[in-house]
Amino acid sequence: MKKTWMTLLLTVCMAVAAGCGNGGSDAGGNGSKGTDSGTKTEAGAQTENPKIGVAIYKFDDTFMTGVRNAMTAAAEGVATLDIVDSQNAQPTQNEKVDLFVSKKYNAMAVNPVDRTAAGVIIDKAKAANIPVVFLNREPVAEDMNKWDKVYYVGAKAEESGTISGQLIVDYWKAHPEADKNGDGKLQYVMLKGEPGHQDAELRTKYSVQAIQDAGIEVEALAEDTAMWDRVKGQEKMQAFLASHGDKIEAVLANNDDMALGAIEALKAAGYFKDGKTMPVVGVDATAPAIQALQDGTMLGTVLNDAKNQGAATVALAAVLAKGETPTKENTKFDITDGKYVWIAYKKITKDNIADAQ
Ligand code: GAL
Ligand code: CA
Repeated sequence: MKKTWMTLLLTVCMAVAAGCGNGGSDAGGNGSKGTDSGTKTEAGAQTENPKIGVAIYKFDDTFMTGVRNAMTAAAEGVATLDIVDSQNAQPTQNEKVDLFVSKKYNAMAVNPVDRTAAGVIIDKAKAANIPVVFLNREPVAEDMNKWDKVYYVGAKAEESGTISGQLIVDYWKAHPEADKNGDGKLQYVMLKGEPGHQDAELRTKYSVQAIQDAGIEVEALAEDTAMWDRVKGQEKMQAFLASHGDKIEAVLANNDDMALGAIEALKAAGYFKDGKTMPVVGVDATAPAIQALQDGTMLGTVLNDAKNQGAATVALAAVLAKGETPTKENTKFDITDGKYVWIAYKKITKDNIADAQ
């Protein structure tokens, strides 16, 4: 008897919840009650001007600012974006996701603060039936497999590592004097991005791997994280110079901001004048990095295609928001393994700057 009442109560609750879900899904704020507009295909989906909640790990990041701007441009006439700053705090980002859910947005795009925390976000999204596209910080496969409305847009970190290593190889082969101490080995320092970030770990590994694969022996003089940050890159490079000075034969940085910071420190130590030079490589091909290529202070970088990463994220989220399944036809991007969009990297030196602009 007790059980029957419980069951009845539960059924009533569920019916009420479902009713709320349908009647209230007007994230557009156009006053529709889900009966008249004819634009709703299923609970949570909306075919016309869908609303997409976008949570960026932090606004104060040069590359992600480029992606953010690309998303805004791509959304014009396609969807309305609500882009928020997670301020580099996962709890803050989780609150933003809760807010997107309460506003009944039709899809979400999330650039995780901590990529290993994506599971929590997926659980929230799934419970509310709001598809989610992750970008730039790749959730682990186990999380990606939690739900079929989970996608990822990014670039293959290994590829950028390999390309930045090749930039050093090209330089080393063309400049025998780059082996300053003439020991046949390349003494380098490494400025790493945020530990645990796939781009930091894999760029570090594969850049060194590419140099070794070219038959060049290497010696790591120092490796430290500068958290993708220009000022920290400068400080770390100052410390490297203080302890290793002229022994350093190359600087590898996981991104351009850190490479630019290193260049500042090198300039202060008398480099880039009177024939004293240093090969410095980064990743991203941001505007200030392109300027440094032109100035001859940065040797090379790798285009991290903010424009296409932003465009792909919006394309997928907009299709999902309409209750459809992303395909090459409706997004214009290749979808791998049913849930990944991989945007290619490209080697950039002063000879092909136009490719990055
Ligand atoms: C990388 C990029 C870095 C930084 C990071 C943030 O792909 O190269 O500069 O923006 O993403 O997650
Ligand atoms: Ca040497």
